[in-house]
Amino acid sequence: MLIFGTRPEAIKMAPLVKEFQKHPEEFETIVCVTGQHRQMLDQVLDIFDIQPDYDLNIMKQGQDLTDVTARVLTGMRDVFGRVKPDVALVHGDTTTSTAAALAAFYQQIPVGHVEAGLRTHNIYSPWPEEMNRQITGRIATFNFAPTPLSRQNLIQENVSDDKITVTGNTVIDALYWVVDKIKNDMDLNDSLSSELKSAGYDVTRLSAGRRMVLITGHRRENFGDGFISMCRAIKNLTERYPEVDFVYPMHLNPNVRKPIHEVFGENLSNLGNMFFIEPLEYLSFVYLMEKSDIVLTDSGGIQEEAPGLGKPVLVMRDTTERPEALDAGTVQLVGTDYDKIVNSVSRLLDDQKEYDRMSKAVNPYGDGLACSRIVSKLAEN
Ligand code: UD1
Ligand code: UDP
Repeated sequence: MLIFGTRPEAIKMAPLVKEFQKHPEEFETIVCVTGQHRQMLDQVLDIFDIQPDYDLNIMKQGQDLTDVTARVLTGMRDVFGRVKPDVALVHGDTTTSTAAALAAFYQQIPVGHVEAGLRTHNIYSPWPEEMNRQITGRIATFNFAPTPLSRQNLIQENVSDDKITVTGNTVIDALYWVVDKIKNDMDLNDSLSSELKSAGYDVTRLSAGRRMVLITGHRRENFGDGFISMCRAIKNLTERYPEVDFVYPMHLNPNVRKPIHEVFGENLSNLGNMFFIEPLEYLSFVYLMEKSDIVLTDSGGIQEEAPGLGKPVLVMRDTTERPEALDAGTVQLVGTDYDKIVNSVSRLLDDQKEYDRMSKAVNPYGDGLACSRIVSKLAEN
């Protein structure tokens, strides 16, 4: 049984669902979604054409961590009461994954942790994700580590090596699937361009040589002052660089939208070169990322995807559990400090040498075969 509930988990588990479904003689594949995200989860299920067998539908507006934990824990107890899978697969560091792993443990169902071993070693950064993944790591029988470094993190926590398989990150499997789809299909390109236009951003503006900065943000530890500082910095940049477009597909969390309105006003349309749009479905987002020049984000998954597309990434966080792209020089931490964000984006826009240095395509996170490695490992057991 594969269990997931938020947008990034769905993107990273969808190719694994597809891989299991290729082996019906060996595996019965059951998909359970918690619905921790509703609309943003459903966007991904549609794109990958996945119909869940179980849907806990837990999302409430403005839910807190206790709400999500309690609803997933009791919801999964009931699902596991009805069907007892041989293994419960959870992903990464969301509250869905940790609460589902705990629910499985309570019924002595072995847990497989996909994207295991990422660490900042600071339990408040990112919060609550660092603690979530440490707890899931303690529970898991199978640890699917994306990189040798994540394997090393687990070994340092005394996880025995035979419980760890280095697989690459399944996000690269998902990304390759999308990039491949977009690359050869001109009709799809036209329809993605039209979809983006109706969403509020016309990519044909870029054909005249304009550049574009793509922005996302949603981390809980940045709520409040951090987000206000990020938004002020972005506003300053839009005024400093009228010849550059800034496109921000906004997360649906009200805590993300409030500071945006505080800084940019109630009406977010007609802001010149600043485009606030609704969250994009995955194909459109990857299409837009390919068209961007710089990515400014606090997202985890985007730190893994953008380097593969050769896009410099400025990460609005103080720590990262994904140091591989930092080491490769394509990702830089800028935190939420106003001056640091303004100066780092300006440097990339003004200094071609610095831009070229950061924009080389590297892919430390996988080769697109992570899902088949996970399936092969489980087939051995
Ligand atoms: C969650 C995860 C985070 C992950 C992020 C990816 C936890 C604690 N947090 O954070 O690790 O990086 O997802 O995006 O597991 N909302 C909607 N519709 C949606 C999605 C969200 O309206 O489709 C709104 C709701 O008001 C909801 C709120 O956003 O209550 C917060 O959602 P939640 O999943 O609790 O937190 P995220 O910040 O999305
Ligand atoms: N993404 C998307 N639409 C958007 C913004 C992001 O499909 O409008 C994708 C992005 O490509 C990545 C994932 O969502 O695969 C990242 O999700 P998010 O930043 O919400 O979560 P995180 O990775 O930080 O947990």
